[in-house]
Amino acid sequence: MKRLLLLVLSGIMVMAVSGLIFIGCTKEGPQGPAGANGSNGKDANATCTLCHTFSDTIVVKVFQYDASKHASASTIAEAARSGCSGCHSHEGFLEKLQTGSTVTQAYADAAPINCRTCHLIHSTYTPADWTLRSVTPVHPYIDTTASIDLSVTTNGIVDGTSNLCGKCHQARPAVPPLTNPKGTDTIAITSNRWGPHHGPQFLMLAAKGAYEMGTAAFRTSPHKDKATCHDCHLGTAQGNFVGGHTLTMSSLSTGDNVAVCKPCHASIGTTFDYNGVQTEITTKLNQLKVLLVQNNILDSVNMVLKGSISATKPFKRPQIQLAIYWNFSMVYADRSMGVHNHLYTLDMLTDGIQYFTGLKK
Ligand code: HEC
Ligand code: HEC
Ligand code: HEC
Ligand code: HEC
Ligand code: HEC
Ligand code: HEC
Repeated sequence: MKRLLLLVLSGIMVMAVSGLIFIGCTKEGPQGPAGANGSNGKDANATCTLCHTFSDTIVVKVFQYDASKHASASTIAEAARSGCSGCHSHEGFLEKLQTGSTVTQAYADAAPINCRTCHLIHSTYTPADWTLRSVTPVHPYIDTTASIDLSVTTNGIVDGTSNLCGKCHQARPAVPPLTNPKGTDTIAITSNRWGPHHGPQFLMLAAKGAYEMGTAAFRTSPHKDKATCHDCHLGTAQGNFVGGHTLTMSSLSTGDNVAVCKPCHASIGTTFDYNGVQTEITTKLNQLKVLLVQNNILDSVNMVLKGSISATKPFKRPQIQLAIYWNFSMVYADRSMGVHNHLYTLDMLTDGIQYFTGLKK
């Protein structure tokens, strides 16, 4: 479909030379820089063809992007709900950037996340439009007064990709929030879905968003200040399986795309299980899962709070147990099994395990 579009587009470009669509061009975009032929419309064509040529720039990115989960738009239906559209649709995201509010409108006929969601495509009609739409620090939904900046500067070049991705890949706030996560006083929860939601990766990388309920503060690993989503998810591509604009880390055909780790971990093997970190975190996550099931907190089939819960039939638990459930859900939803932030993840799980094993004695 997209490839067909590109063919049609190339056709349009050829026609453009004979002056057919220049009225549209000059109306929509600013005039291109003055070219050898003077300002007779061929200038605009010159800027269009900086991107729309038979060079592979767009072809490759579209090829990779079409294979991504973003392009699948499997959750686009959520755009029809206010409060969900800010992360689940193109329109909601742009509205969120403009208003700075986490509350966005419901959108019918919503567009999925696409080139224009992340790039400024067709703003100036020059290659400057590849600029990322927003790399400013993130004011997380869980505390909009806070500001988290995960941009990384290497040799004077600032990579702010994590702040772009993080505007969506973060937890939703707890309703109600825990006021005293170390406390044994109970709080009433009115929905099974209470928890950090599905994509908390930015917060995980930043070592934020978990409830500290043990005796020591959670530690953090160096990825927070050294690596960005760009380094790992948009690294060296293999076809449209992994890397580049697929944003995908591993596939059945390629296995784990360890090429993206190699610039920093030359000794890494053939999987992401560097120093056995993923094995360790997977084991701990399963250990805590069993404890949460044994204590009637987790419904391990649907991975939500257990039982039929509603405003009239609330789920009442000590705050500390809900804090552990929240942390567990965050690691489960993160899915990097410790790669995003090994020490933060480890401490979240270890403190939870310690609490519940202590209860049993
Ligand atoms: C920064 C690079 C860039 C420049 C410069 C550029 N485009 Fe595009 N254009 C794109 C991208 C990216 C797409 C979307 C491709 C996709 O999603 O398949 C696109 C899509 C299109 C489409 C398909 C319809 C649509 O909106 O998706 C048309 C028509 C088009 N461009 C015309 C133009 C014209 C005319 C100019 C010059 C006035 C121009 N473009 C300049 C990058 C560019
Ligand atoms: C702060 C941004 C954000 C908001 C707000 C948000 N989501 Fe999501 N949601 C995400 C991200 C990011 C993912 C993908 C996470 C991943 O795959 O790791 C996701 C995934 C999902 C999934 C797919 C889960 C799966 O297991 O495949 C569903 C369903 C979903 N969201 C529903 C909703 C609903 C309903 C709302 C509103 C009540 C909502 N989301 C609000 C960011 C958000
Ligand atoms: C989820 C966000 C996202 C989406 C959607 C996205 N990109 Fe990108 N794109 C990036 C990031 C991040 C980079 C790398 C950072 C940079 O180069 O500024 C990048 C880089 C690029 C580059 C290299 C830019 C340069 O300056 O050399 C091109 C070309 C590009 N993207 C094209 C596309 C096209 C075409 C689409 C749609 C098919 C698309 N992108 C969709 C995030 C995105
Ligand atoms: C506008 C919000 C938004 C932005 C910006 C965004 N994402 Fe996403 N991302 C989502 C949603 C929503 C999903 C789930 C898509 C679906 O299934 O419909 C998702 C899915 C993904 C997935 C696939 C998860 C899976 O289940 O396999 C990866 C990987 C991902 N995003 C990485 C990134 C990276 C890296 C960036 C920045 C370059 C980024 N995202 C920017 C909202 C966003
Ligand atoms: C140090 C490398 C690294 C960084 C930095 C990184 N990721 Fe990941 N990410 C991974 C690995 C490894 C996985 C697990 C992939 C697997 O096992 O298949 C993963 C998993 C994910 C997933 C679950 C879907 C999947 O592909 O398995 C999402 C979504 C995601 N990351 C988004 C992000 C976002 C958004 C950022 C930036 C805020 C980010 N990641 C930063 C390495 C990284
Ligand atoms: C931009 C550089 C960079 C990239 C890319 C990168 N890492 Fe790292 N990573 C580091 C640094 C720096 C450290 C801390 C020093 C060390 O342990 O090597 C680290 C540490 C780690 C640790 C140990 C953390 C701890 O707490 O002991 C793991 C596991 C890890 N990385 C896995 C990965 C994986 C898997 C990838 C590829 C998906 C990856 N890293 C990509 C820079 C990077």
